[in-house]
Amino acid sequence: MCGIIGYVGHRQSKEVLINALRRLEYRGYDSAGIAVLQDKTVELHRVEGRIEGLVEKIKNKSIVGTTGIGHTRWATHGAAVEMNAHPHRVGSVILVHNGIIENYASLRDDLIGRGRKMGSDTDSEIVAHLIDLEIEAGATLEKAVRTVLPKLRGTYAFVILSEKSPKEIVGVRNGCPLLIGVGEGESFFASDVQAVLSYTNKVVYLEDNQVAIIDVGGVKVTDAAGKAMEVAVKTIKWSADEIDKAGYDHYMLKEIYEQPQAIANTIEGNIDHKNEIIRLIGLVEHERLFHKINRVLIVACGTSLHAGLIGKYYIEQFAHIPADVDYASEFRYRNPVLTPDTLCIFISQSGETADTLAALRAVKKNGIPSLVICNVRESSLARAGDMVLYTNAGPEIGVASTKAFTTQVAMLYMFAVQVGHLRKSMVHERFKELTKRLIHLPILVEKTLSLDNEIQKIARKYHGFSCFFYVGRGIYYPVALEGALKLKEISYLHAEGYPAGELKHGPIALVAPDVVTLVLNPKSVADPSNPSRPAELSQMYYEKVMSNLEEVKARKGEIVSIGTQGDETLRKSSHHFLELPPAAWGLNSILLSIPLQLFAYHVAQMRGTDVDKPRNLAKSVTVE
Ligand code: M6R
Repeated sequence: MCGIIGYVGHRQSKEVLINALRRLEYRGYDSAGIAVLQDKTVELHRVEGRIEGLVEKIKNKSIVGTTGIGHTRWATHGAAVEMNAHPHRVGSVILVHNGIIENYASLRDDLIGRGRKMGSDTDSEIVAHLIDLEIEAGATLEKAVRTVLPKLRGTYAFVILSEKSPKEIVGVRNGCPLLIGVGEGESFFASDVQAVLSYTNKVVYLEDNQVAIIDVGGVKVTDAAGKAMEVAVKTIKWSADEIDKAGYDHYMLKEIYEQPQAIANTIEGNIDHKNEIIRLIGLVEHERLFHKINRVLIVACGTSLHAGLIGKYYIEQFAHIPADVDYASEFRYRNPVLTPDTLCIFISQSGETADTLAALRAVKKNGIPSLVICNVRESSLARAGDMVLYTNAGPEIGVASTKAFTTQVAMLYMFAVQVGHLRKSMVHERFKELTKRLIHLPILVEKTLSLDNEIQKIARKYHGFSCFFYVGRGIYYPVALEGALKLKEISYLHAEGYPAGELKHGPIALVAPDVVTLVLNPKSVADPSNPSRPAELSQMYYEKVMSNLEEVKARKGEIVSIGTQGDETLRKSSHHFLELPPAAWGLNSILLSIPLQLFAYHVAQMRGTDVDKPRNLAKSVTVE
């Protein structure tokens, strides 16, 4: 969380910093600030709240200078007030920080004991004091940073300026993302590539404990001991246009509508068209491992965890391997029993989620094979895994994840089907049939999006209600969890996902005329080639959910059901019925999530919340 930026070059840094902060605001929006070097002194401006508040504050100020740093905050230590906003200035040192300094309390006590006065409640300011002490004792900025780093425990990315070394900016990371944008006669530090894409698509991803210095002359990267290092400059394929709203009111709506393309892009690169089969290149070279594994453990957070729960059904169904799913924040503090025959899969849109990253590192330490499914290339998670499969969703800016989720699910489907084929859990004809269905998926998603007008009407009726249940059985249960999470996140309404059969064990006590239950009950297209999933099983699931629906209706609860086109029974039993195009079991789970995303979006919009930047949240959670 928190977005940080640094700039040195030939442009007016105020504009560059504000532009970059707008791109980084999804990482946190509790407060914002910039510091610009004017001659040898720094002009510092901070506000509580959004970047636009900062823009308003400085609009009539003359801020001239081509070197500066900026920050947008998701509060950890200290309330979201101006005093705690970054940049922090201590003596000649001006610093922005993303992360948490865990031993800040003892460092702070020590500094106060040495007569230092604190200007904020943050852990970050402590670091500015420590660096300032070193500079006062005669160190250069680079040397001072290097001396202070070993005293810190925790995670961080820092970008630091000093009025005493006005030509350079120093950046360093440990566990939080930081990259360098390499332009013509200009350089940047940024938390995320989106911040610099309007200026350059050439970047260097810093590694933990490297110290980098940028100035107009270019970039110098050194190891922890200060030795200069060769670094790889990567060219980024995302363009600045992809991170605009393209005429939509919100990024979230744009990203919902991008799903047919995002899914097609994710599938496309992984299909062997000549043989009409899925071919995940990253897996082929590890074929032996996939024959050997006897368990899969999926670890993730939030929406990515829900994708993992759907993946569990795919892996068990198509690959016949036992699969479990765990919250990264729980997994890492347990003592899980893992053997080298377990494959751990880590799923993340951003690739920077602190809990997921820490869980991956713990697994690697124990020599357990790891596979990362990730949307952001070169992210920390993608670089740390033994194998990586990239979803091709493109940049996702809305805090509520939509296209990242459906592309993760599509990727898990491909993974499970291909591993199933490798392990001879399915005949070749079935492998081809499942591939063919998947290729058709973007068209089904496109058709599902046409429910939007109807969903708006339903949202209008229910946006004033305050309690929502989402229920489904089997593979549709995690979809229910995801639907409820979407509504909670952006509309601030209470919503719970449940396995439909579980309602009667307690939650049904809440059902009343002012409670809405969204019932997920599609019928699956018959699958004669799949003996392990007979049609009767799907029919049994369907009937059981119908009974659960009746139990809710009998208590006068409102029912919105989502099922398959032409299902008159479901229509008649519901107050509102949304019809999906007919699809197979494995793909219905993706289609179902589209109306749930749209429902959450419209309810939130009608309630007037900030859809793209919901309160208390940030896009990527880089603190534990
Ligand atoms: O970047 P990641 O996929 O690792 O993020 C995990 C969660 O923080 C994320 O999915 C979060 O739950 C979203 N806000 C959901 O919309």
